[in-house]
Amino acid sequence: MRYDLSVDAQTCISCMKCVRICPVHIFQANTDKKIYLQNPEYCIACGHCVGVCPTDSVVHSEFPADKVHEIDYTKMPSAESVMLLCKERRSNRAFSKKPIPKEYLDLILEAGHVAPTASNKQEVKFMLITNPERLISLSKFTLDIFQGAVRKLENPLLKPVLKKLMPDAYKYVPTFKSLQEEFDKGNDMIMRNATAAIIIYAPKANRFGCEDSNLAYQNASLMAESLGVSQFYMGFVYSATKQSGGDRLAKELGIDGTIHAAMALGMPSFRFKNYIDKKPIDLITIE
Ligand SMILES: Cc1cc2nc3c(=O)[nH]c(=O)nc-3n(C[C@H](O)[C@H](O)[C@H](O)COP(=O)(O)O)c2cc1C
Repeated sequence: MRYDLSVDAQTCISCMKCVRICPVHIFQANTDKKIYLQNPEYCIACGHCVGVCPTDSVVHSEFPADKVHEIDYTKMPSAESVMLLCKERRSNRAFSKKPIPKEYLDLILEAGHVAPTASNKQEVKFMLITNPERLISLSKFTLDIFQGAVRKLENPLLKPVLKKLMPDAYKYVPTFKSLQEEFDKGNDMIMRNATAAIIIYAPKANRFGCEDSNLAYQNASLMAESLGVSQFYMGFVYSATKQSGGDRLAKELGIDGTIHAAMALGMPSFRFKNYIDKKPIDLITIE
């Protein structure tokens, strides 16, 4: 895409920060340190040039003044508080019936939305579901796919072949069966009575749609944690989506794209008292 991009020679102090920061080398310097632009059509509108310029000399049509905000680094959370957030963030499935305040959902979505994306494509999309029937339909969709798999795996004609072809699949049969049994007893172990779900998706053609969506997920989950909103990754639903060929749930929800991540949310019935250490890090260092 083409943007209007220029450098104000009157105010530019030739600090070279734009030259060093631009990921596609649009900013170049003459021998007399005057900045000029080369191949501006390659601009990915990441805003690094505008963000880094100490004299606000970079003029970019995508970033008018109201989109540019000076950073107050004194307001950054300390490393200690970021580490505490990372360590105490848990998947809390004990949801209360209390609805999540709308302003909290807005903040969670905004945190997800500002996550980095490959080539700064910013194509990650979100669907927020708070309708109770729609939320239960996610569990029903998942159970439907899982029960279909169980029927196939236990089909006496197919079983001898499938057991050889995909022995691991049989490990899941007891889980799939018990999820249905529990659901029939009124215990939904898929959505766990979440009061909201955020489905994260991207256009089919986006090569990094999965990575981008899951980075968005993690930003959103940390924001949820900081607000005292509980969440867990909707892995069963996601796995059913994949088993069904990828498109079925998206179609049911009216989503144009591929679902790559999903979050179940609710206000907690209670929060964790302790955080527990994870396994020791497995790290190889090459120096
Ligand atoms: C890809 C993925 C899929 C998951 N799927 C589910 C799920 O379907 N249901 C659930 O209750 N938790 C799910 N979880 C949560 C994990 O069980 C949880 O992250 C793990 O037990 C560690 O606990 P913690 O998140 O509290 O640190 C999933 C997590 C990930 C990363």
